[in-house]
Amino acid sequence: MTNGLDDVVAAETVLSDVDGLGGRLTIRGHALPELAGRWKYAQVVRLLLDGFFEDLPGDTDLVQKIGQARGDVFVRLQPTLASLASLDIYSAMRAGIALLPDGDNLTDALRLITAPAVLTPALLRIKRGSPAIAPDPHADHAGDMLRMLNGCVPSPALAKALDTYLVTVCDHGLNASTFATRVVASTQAGLTSAVLAGLGALKGPLHGGAPGPVIEMLDAIEAHGDAAGWLRAEIAHGERIMGFGHRIYRVRDPRADVLKAVVRQLGGEGETGRRLAFAEKVEQAALDVLRVAKPLRSIQTNVEFYTALLLEAAGFPKEAFSNVFAAGRVAGWIAHAREQQTTGRLIRPQSRYVGPMPDLVA
Ligand code: ACO
Repeated sequence: MTNGLDDVVAAETVLSDVDGLGGRLTIRGHALPELAGRWKYAQVVRLLLDGFFEDLPGDTDLVQKIGQARGDVFVRLQPTLASLASLDIYSAMRAGIALLPDGDNLTDALRLITAPAVLTPALLRIKRGSPAIAPDPHADHAGDMLRMLNGCVPSPALAKALDTYLVTVCDHGLNASTFATRVVASTQAGLTSAVLAGLGALKGPLHGGAPGPVIEMLDAIEAHGDAAGWLRAEIAHGERIMGFGHRIYRVRDPRADVLKAVVRQLGGEGETGRRLAFAEKVEQAALDVLRVAKPLRSIQTNVEFYTALLLEAAGFPKEAFSNVFAAGRVAGWIAHAREQQTTGRLIRPQSRYVGPMPDLVA
């Protein structure tokens, strides 16, 4: 038995494969660099859902249905937004999603796939005292998310950057949140129940909760002035360096390079470029410090380090970074949930009891 299920194969999937030694991510037969920056998020949603819904339309009609689903989510949840906004932004999104029907048809799936992208900007605006902006069903999905956040149509470069991010994080093998999603789907519960399980697992800092703390780390190091000294002190106190390390990758997470290239394209001479140059120095210092502190383990940069820079550059506050992660990963969760529902069995492992036994009465 392993504490953490390392190397346990708990599902067969046609969806994605993570090669931890080669540093490669394959999504339905496509290497990540083939998709990121080349395919739109809606096309990748279609790729993931292919075979799991009999009425899944072609690319053009699916784009239209995704737009309609954004509108449907907004209309359904608008009356609850003000009360949800009293919660922290992640809990508010999760609570809103819990109000959606718990079915398992394509309409249910598309509502769930669009819900984080609709709820996050709406809730952020209400928290700031501004009215929520309704989706534009005809707009591009990532661009519409930014428009609903900022109230203006984003530059094509920024919309493409967010779209590339959503594609980059859309699926990633049997990570903790996807496993949680599959466990719930294996009971034949509905897709909303499965997605709520994924959202619960994604929130933690060892998984999708890391990019907010990456920003806090960069700010703290900037104020401190000595990256290596700050990082060494953290490790000496038993802290983990956020944005580094992975259960599967023993080499650099391929998603880190994809996202770093996107930030570089956005960067230029402005604040994003300055922040990127600083983050690159911190990254090198962290890799050097980790190599010395943990010589027996190869701890490399993971997806969350450059996620933090990209989402900061896109104008999201750090407390909403996990929401945006969910806006991408939800497509993978839905595909895995459907794969589990249609091809899998109830997931029910065993535990080994190591507690006391009842006294045996003679
Ligand atoms: N900083 C410092 N030490 C680390 C780090 C890190 N980022 N990552 C692993 N380690 C150390 C652990 O302290 C432990 O050391 P020890 O053996 O001396 O006690 C050793 O490496 C193994 O740690 P585990 O938790 O068993 O390793 P695992 O491979 O399961 O860790 C994890 C993966 C949880 C992601 C870890 O690397 C981590 O905590 N990273 C920081 C948080 C983070 O970036 N999370 C996002 C991950 S990417 C994603 O989920 C989308």
